[in-house]
Amino acid sequence: MDPTTRVNRDAWESASRKYVREDAEMLAVATSGASLLPTERDLLGAVLRTSPRVVHLQSGNGTDDVALVRAGARSVVGVDYSAVTVRAAQRRADAIGVACRYVVGALPGAPLADGCADLVYTGKGALIWIPDLPAWARDVVRLLRPGGHLFIHEEHPAAPLWTWDEDEPRIRADRSYFAASHVNDSFPAGGAVQVQHTLGGIVTALTAAGLRIHQLHEYAEPFWRMGGVTAAAWNGRLPNAYALLASRPAHVG
Ligand SMILES: C[S@@+](CC[C@H](N)C(=O)[O-])C[C@H]1O[C@@H](n2cnc3c(N)ncnc32)[C@H](O)[C@@H]1O
Repeated sequence: MDPTTRVNRDAWESASRKYVREDAEMLAVATSGASLLPTERDLLGAVLRTSPRVVHLQSGNGTDDVALVRAGARSVVGVDYSAVTVRAAQRRADAIGVACRYVVGALPGAPLADGCADLVYTGKGALIWIPDLPAWARDVVRLLRPGGHLFIHEEHPAAPLWTWDEDEPRIRADRSYFAASHVNDSFPAGGAVQVQHTLGGIVTALTAAGLRIHQLHEYAEPFWRMGGVTAAAWNGRLPNAYALLASRPAHVG
């Protein structure tokens, strides 16, 4: 494991203890099956009606996995490099009695069989921790059966530029859309290095790996609002999130 990934993994092991401390709250959110956003339900509706086997990359607290099963998924396998978060997510899934299984693994290089997924689901703070996006996209293609789908709902690459000023949005003087990375100063703590991918870089990595993009939507609403923050950058005028639906072609060539 390279030094940056190790620093970030350690930051996530420590940040994930939050999900253990807040276990009762997480269990309630998971049990409700309500954590999938309305936009996710819209874009994923047709895929979920086919009862897919889902692989959730960077599965974190796993609340979305319970929601995916409740919305039609046959099963979910979550992969995350935090053993703390994997154990907590598995304990909650077992308590609820849903078909979710969690494995520890650093990405790219998910410890799962080729073609095991009808749907690879990820996002909500995931791609910003993956420096080698082309390698990650090739791993997604490997995991998908031919005809399977990739779904991403993620922070918009421009969002790290916005200040959280309440009166009006401003562009942070210490950030650039085209920078390779920045040190995360909100969550998780501990100086984790957050990778920046441009929207063009994301689309190019996916298509170069052989995926066909069907939908790409940009949203003003962030996928998550930091508690106690009322940023003018979230008032509807700027991009803060995006969702992308792609598939591995059934036949190549
Ligand atoms: C912000 S959380 C998002 C997780 C999930 N989508 C959710 O909503 O809970 C990011 C997760 O990615 C995991 N992670 C970050 N980099 C990773 C990597 N290279 N391999 C595997 N997991 C990683 C972290 O441990 C953390 O659980």
